[in-house]
Amino acid sequence: VTFYRKDYKTPNHRIVKTDLVFELNPSRTKVKSRLQFEAWDAQVNDLAALELDGEALELESVTLNGRQLSNTEYLQTDTSLTIPHAGRHGVLELTVYNQPDQNTRLEGLYVSNGNFFTQCEAQGFRRITYFPDRPDVLSKFTVTLIANKASHPVTLSNGNLLEARDLDDGLHLSRWEDPFPKPAYLFALVGGNFVCQEETITKGNGQTALLQVWVEPGNLDKTDFAMQSLKRSIEWDRQRFGLDLDLDRFMIVATADFNMGAMENKGLNIFNTKFVFANPQLATDVDFENVESVVGHEYFHNWTGNRVTCQDWFQLSLKEGLTVFRDQEFSADMLAHGLSPEQAASARAVKRIDDVKVLRAAQFPEDAGPMAHPIRPDSYQEINNFYTVTVYEKGAEVIRMQHTLLGEALFQRGMQIYFERHDGQAATCEQFVSAMETALQESNPGLNLQQFRHWYSQAGTPEVHASWAHDVSLGELTLILKQRCAPTPGQASKPAFHIPIRLGFVDQQGCDQALLLKGDATALRGDVLNLTQTEQRFVFTGLRTPVVPSLLRGFSAPVNLRTSHSSADLIFLAAHDNDPFNRWDAGQQVYAKAVQEVLKRQGDTHGEAVQAALEVFGNLLNDHRLSDGYLAIALQLPGEGALFEQQEGLVDPVALHMARCALRDRISAQFQGELMALYKARYKPGEAYAYTTVAAGERALKNLCLSYLVAGAEPEDLALAQQQYAECNNMTDRVAALSALVYNGPANTPELAHYYQLFGHEALAIDKWFMLQATVPASNTDVDTLAQVKTLLKHPAFTLKNPNRARSLLGAFAMQNPSVFHQHSGQGYALWADLVIELNGINPQVAARMARALDRWTKLVTPLQVHARQALERIHGTSQLSPDVREVIGKALAAA
Ligand code: ARG
Ligand code: ZN
Repeated sequence: VTFYRKDYKTPNHRIVKTDLVFELNPSRTKVKSRLQFEAWDAQVNDLAALELDGEALELESVTLNGRQLSNTEYLQTDTSLTIPHAGRHGVLELTVYNQPDQNTRLEGLYVSNGNFFTQCEAQGFRRITYFPDRPDVLSKFTVTLIANKASHPVTLSNGNLLEARDLDDGLHLSRWEDPFPKPAYLFALVGGNFVCQEETITKGNGQTALLQVWVEPGNLDKTDFAMQSLKRSIEWDRQRFGLDLDLDRFMIVATADFNMGAMENKGLNIFNTKFVFANPQLATDVDFENVESVVGHEYFHNWTGNRVTCQDWFQLSLKEGLTVFRDQEFSADMLAHGLSPEQAASARAVKRIDDVKVLRAAQFPEDAGPMAHPIRPDSYQEINNFYTVTVYEKGAEVIRMQHTLLGEALFQRGMQIYFERHDGQAATCEQFVSAMETALQESNPGLNLQQFRHWYSQAGTPEVHASWAHDVSLGELTLILKQRCAPTPGQASKPAFHIPIRLGFVDQQGCDQALLLKGDATALRGDVLNLTQTEQRFVFTGLRTPVVPSLLRGFSAPVNLRTSHSSADLIFLAAHDNDPFNRWDAGQQVYAKAVQEVLKRQGDTHGEAVQAALEVFGNLLNDHRLSDGYLAIALQLPGEGALFEQQEGLVDPVALHMARCALRDRISAQFQGELMALYKARYKPGEAYAYTTVAAGERALKNLCLSYLVAGAEPEDLALAQQQYAECNNMTDRVAALSALVYNGPANTPELAHYYQLFGHEALAIDKWFMLQATVPASNTDVDTLAQVKTLLKHPAFTLKNPNRARSLLGAFAMQNPSVFHQHSGQGYALWADLVIELNGINPQVAARMARALDRWTKLVTPLQVHARQALERIHGTSQLSPDVREVIGKALAAA
C-alpha cells in the first residue's frame, strides 16, 4: 500500500482527553482507556464514524457513553476499530491486552532485560491500544501504571507525578498527568528496576525543575556527562533561541534495546544506551560528542516537535530538519566554548566538515538512488523507512540555507513568528517557510522564499557548474554558474532551485578581495550570491590582481559543485583559503583526483595527481597555525563512500579500496618522519583523560598518525599500536590502537581477547569489538573477514534481537566494509541476504535499514550487479516479507 501526501484529510473527531490505566505484566498487559471525543469541526455530523487504529491487540470490551457495545455495534479489522455514528461527542472506553515480552519489533510496549519501555513514533501507539494514531490528534493524557513492586519498582510516564502508592498483592501504582496536549506518538511509559542521577535546576522564570537520568543499577558511573549535556542544552536553548523548559520534571531513561538513537517523548525521553552512557573507560571522544548532540537533539524537540508538532508524517522534516539544525548549532557552540577566536573558528569548521561528510557519504547516495525523496516526501509505503538522512540531514541543510538567507536575527524573528502562529498545533513545512518569509519581508519587502520552496518538493542533489574568466587589467571577473538536477523516481525534470552560494576571491597573498557586483546588486547579499536561474552570469569588479574564486564557502547549499579550478588552484586553496571548510574541501578534491588516478594506473602512484596530493599533505603538515583537530581532518583521505559516488560510470569497490590504500601507503612512506614526530609529541599515556575540544583534537591527530604509520604493517610500527594499547587509559586511544592492529596485523591479535576479557560485561564495548572485526578491509590479506563474520554470528554474545548488536556485525559488515561486502565472489551479498531475511522476522524496522546496503547496486560493475540482483531477488521472493523490507528491496529492484 502506498500513502500519498495529497490525500491528507482531517479526522472526524478529536480526542480531547485520554485516560489510560496499565496493568503491567510482561506476558499480558491490560490497557484500559477512556477517550473523550468531540467532532473535529462543524462539518462533522451525528452519523460520522469514530475511527481508531490498532494492531496486534486483543480487544476485550468496548463501551460507548457508559453502555457496553456488542460486537455488531463496531467494526474491527486487523488494523482498525470503527464505531459507526458515534455522535458529535461522547466517551469511549476500551479494554485491550497486548504481549510486551513477545514484541521483538520494539515498537509499542516491549520488554528489554525485564523492564518495560515504549516506542510510539511513528505508529507504535496503535500496538498499545486502539486510538486515532495520527500526529494531528492532540490529547491531554493522564496515565495510571500498576506494576509488581518487587520486579518493577520504578514506573514513569509523561508529565507530572500526581500520586504514588502501594496496593495489595505486592503491586504499586503511580499516576501521571501531562499538562500539554500531545499526539499519541509522544506518549511513553517505563517500568522496571532503575536508579537515577538527579538534579534540580532553576528555569528562566525562577521556578525549579527536576532533571533525572534513569539507568539500570550498576550504570550510575556512566550518566554524568549526559546530565551535564542536558543542563547545557536547556541553558543554550534559552540563550540562543529564547526557549525555556516548560515542565517541572524532565526525565531521560536509557535502554539497551532500541531501534533508533533516542525519542523525544514529552518529559520522558527514552534513549538508546549508546547515546547516554559515557565515561572515559567506555566511550570514545566521538561517543562523548554524540551523547551531547543526541541529548541536545531530543531536548530541543520539546519545542520543535512537541510544542509544535507535525500535521502528518509527510511533514516529518518540519521537526527533524529543524531540530538537527538546532543540535548542530548547539554542538558547534559547545565545541567552540571557552576557546580563543581562532581555535573556536577551527572547532566550528571541524563540526561543519563532520556534518557535511555525513551528508556526502550517506545523503547524496540516497538522493541518487532508488529511495530518493524530497525532504517532504509525497508518498511512502512504510513511514519508518522515511526517518532518513534526507529528512534529517538534508532537512537541516534546508533550514541552514534559510538561516543563511535571513541571517541570525531575522531567522530568530522567524522562529518567534512560527511559535506565535503555531504553538500547541500540528503544523506543516509550508507554515514554517511562511513564518520565515514573513520575517524576511518585515525588513526586505521585495524578497520572498517562493522559489526556495522547491527544496521541499524536489528530490535529488543539484549539480552546480562554475567557470570564470578574469580580465585583470579591467578588474572584471565574470563568473558563470549553471545548475541542473538529475531525474529522481517520479520527478523527471525540475525547475531551478534558489541556491545560496557563499563566496570569496582569494588573492595571491591569501587575502579576500572585496566583493563588488556589477549591475543587479540584489543577487549579492553580504558574501552570499543568489543563484536562481539554470544559467546565470555575474560580473565582479575591482579585482585588479589575480585571484582564485572560493565558492560555496561553509558548504552554503547541499549541492555538488564542479568548478574549473586547476590543480594548482586547488593546491593553493588547500593551503590558503580563509574559509576553513573550503580549505579542507580543496584538499579533498585533490586527494580524490589522486585516488582516481591511481585506479586508472592500476596501483601506480607516480602520476601528477598523486604528486599534487603529496604537496597538499606536505603543506598542511608544515602549517603550524592549524589546530590539531583541524589537521586531523584535513590529513584524512575521502572515505570510500564519497569516492564511490564521485566516480564516473560503474564502480568496483574492491579496486577503489585498493587504489585508496595505495595512495595512503604512498603518503605514509613519504611523510613517515613527520607523522612519527607528530605522533610522538602527542603520545602521553600518563596524562589524565579529559573530554575537551583541544584534548580530543590532539588525540584525533595522534591516532590518525598512528593509522598512517601502521599502514605498511611493519612489525616495528605495529609495535607502536601494541604499546599504545597496553598503556592507554581511555577508550579513544584503546580503540585507535586496537583498530590499527586489527585492520593491519594478523588475525586474532591477542589484544582482541584482552579487550573482550576487560569489557565482556559492557554491551556497548562489545558492540565495538564486533564492529572492529567486521570491518577489517580486503587489503588485510591475513584476515578472511567474511569467514570471521560468519564465526562471530555464532559467538555466544551475538544476537540479531538487539539492534545495536545486529548493527555492530551485520550493519558494519554490509555498510562500513565495502571491499569485503562487494567481494567478487558475491558471497558478501549472499550472507547479507540471509541475515536480512532472518532479521525481517524479528525486527522489520532494523531489517529495512540493513536492507539499504545495496541501494546503489546499479552503479556497480556488471559482474557484481549480477550477484546483487540475485541477492535482492532472493529477499524479495521470501514469504512474510514485512512492508518495511518490501519497500526498500522493491524500490532497489525497480531501479534496474
Ligand atoms: N524522533 C526521534 C528522533 O529524531 C526518532 C524516532 C524514530 N522512530 C522511528 N520509528 N523511526 O530523535
Ligand atoms: Zn529527532
